[in-house]
Amino acid sequence: MPETRKPLLRALGGEAVWPPPMWLMRQAGRYLPEYRAVRAGVPDFIALCTTPELAAEVTLQPIRRYGFDASILFSDILILPWALGHGLEFKEGEGPVLPRLRDAASLAALDPKRVPDKVAPVMETVRRVRAGLAAEGFGQTTLIGFAGAPFTVACYMVEGGGSRDFAATRAMAYADPALFGGLMDTLTEATIGYLSAQAEAGAEALMLFDSWAGVLSPSLFRRYVIAPATRIVAELRRRHPDVPVIGFPRLAGLMVGEYAATGVQAIGMDTSMDLRRAVGLVPDGVALQGNLDPMALVAGGAALTEETAAILREMKGRPFVFNLGHGIVPQTPTDHVAALVEQVRAAS
Ligand code: CP3
Repeated sequence: MPETRKPLLRALGGEAVWPPPMWLMRQAGRYLPEYRAVRAGVPDFIALCTTPELAAEVTLQPIRRYGFDASILFSDILILPWALGHGLEFKEGEGPVLPRLRDAASLAALDPKRVPDKVAPVMETVRRVRAGLAAEGFGQTTLIGFAGAPFTVACYMVEGGGSRDFAATRAMAYADPALFGGLMDTLTEATIGYLSAQAEAGAEALMLFDSWAGVLSPSLFRRYVIAPATRIVAELRRRHPDVPVIGFPRLAGLMVGEYAATGVQAIGMDTSMDLRRAVGLVPDGVALQGNLDPMALVAGGAALTEETAAILREMKGRPFVFNLGHGIVPQTPTDHVAALVEQVRAAS
């Protein structure tokens, strides 16, 4: 009987699919001229994320160009705090800017009841992408929904935007565990509802981006990365047993072994992770995803070929999803992406 399950879902189910399924974090974005054309026609990035017709269009763009095994919903991890009523602005060349959450009154002002209405356009995008993939003949492409993990989202809310080391967030976690723990609980419950709604709208897998997990000490990592992920995964698995969850605890290092106990079906490896070491730390049934350096993709040529070959060599024989170790950057040449796809598809 021919294999009918999508390759990405087979790999996330624990199968050593070969050549491995592949997609790239931030695969819809500014390195694509067709994305820049759509982006130029909207007033701001939030408008793009909340206009289903356009968000679905840019989600599909990289699939049309490269035929990836996954399409990832076009949105942003900061849409959830925005939906909770926390302000959000994307300033040109500056990244996200948010009000700073530093006291109990700001925490109390977050309103989970308004989330479903505010994120309704995101759910409409999910439905449109599922329909678009089928209509355009991408029957093997899996739709991934996502959210930021509570700790990473809290980082942006407490700092008021990006930061080199999220010092204020970490200090708050130690100095005011009631306030920080309250924020984490609010975000954890909102994340469950948000991801669950994406699964109901048609997302076939879900990913939790914990981009700043690696700034935490082991004790705080257990409390604010592992514990919330465990709660989120348990609740999602109870509600949607057929929807696998990918965790991405970026820069977790040796803590990746403990992270596997959250119950995720796959773990995203960041660029710094030694894959051989990761294999020793993560149970065989948990898929690994990653971890090409986005800058090797910018460089192209022999460096790209060699780094890619090394990852393929290391991952052959275990459940694996080829990806980058962090998001693709705007200066990436599109023909380097085409060369990468060709090499991974030809893996023997
Ligand atoms: O293609 C995809 O992967 C889907 C869409 C997606 C975006 N952001 C679109 C985006 C996803 C999955 C994200 C996740 C995200 N957003 C993370 C976690 C992953 C990571 O990179 O660590 C984080 C930390 C954010 C927060 C965020 N969003 C920042 C810091 C920035 C500014 C930096 C930048 O690249 O501009 C964004 C903006 C953003 N999110 C853009 C895109 C395509 C660029 C905005 C634009 O086009 O003007």
